[in-house]
Amino acid sequence: MADLESSFCLVGRFIAFVPGEKSPYQMISLDVSLGDSSAEATHYRIVLDKHLRRMMYRYLNPQDWLKVVGHRAMNLRSGQLEWKAAEIFKLSAHQVSAYRVSAYQTSTHSLPAVTLAAKASAPVRVLICQASDCRQRGSEAVSRALKEAIAQANSSQANSSQTNSSQTNSSQKIMVQSTGCMKRCKEGPNVVTVPGGQHCQVSLEGAITLLQTLL
Ligand code: FES
Repeated sequence: MADLESSFCLVGRFIAFVPGEKSPYQMISLDVSLGDSSAEATHYRIVLDKHLRRMMYRYLNPQDWLKVVGHRAMNLRSGQLEWKAAEIFKLSAHQVSAYRVSAYQTSTHSLPAVTLAAKASAPVRVLICQASDCRQRGSEAVSRALKEAIAQANSSQANSSQTNSSQTNSSQKIMVQSTGCMKRCKEGPNVVTVPGGQHCQVSLEGAITLLQTLL
């Protein structure tokens, strides 16, 4: 069983907090890239140890470079790797360049294959802040509109590709996810696309236009 658990050390960009059942800051979304392009990044969702949650909320800003040290384990029921952070360090630009050549290091042999497979099929992610200020400014409606537009695009693509079973729906590669506060509360609703970047004051029309650029 030892090879199902191991420590990890990841260096990457903080994207956003991801809420869970126990806390709005239960997880972080981290992009780890071997090069300069965010399109080549591997996306990780990492659970924060309880003692880290409130502290990290005050400490982290979107796009910060982080070194995250922790423990990962295979959940035998779901077959998914679960990542849990024990310590997080913010890196300066100088420290990041030292890590650039080897953007992530792992301590077991079996797990990198899993992360590479995940990378190959990684969808574009649309992260929408669902903390209180953004909700008051309409982030729930933005999320709903995006999900409906993706479902519509999927069904019309499915109809038009009935004769070609090998065709993949481009919209199936887009995932809409809720996150915690991105610390730009006055500019909400806030949306981050990965790869892509930050979008502020996203209206319903703006969300659909954004989606069209991703399809
Ligand atoms: S509430 Fe959305 S950025 Fe703070």
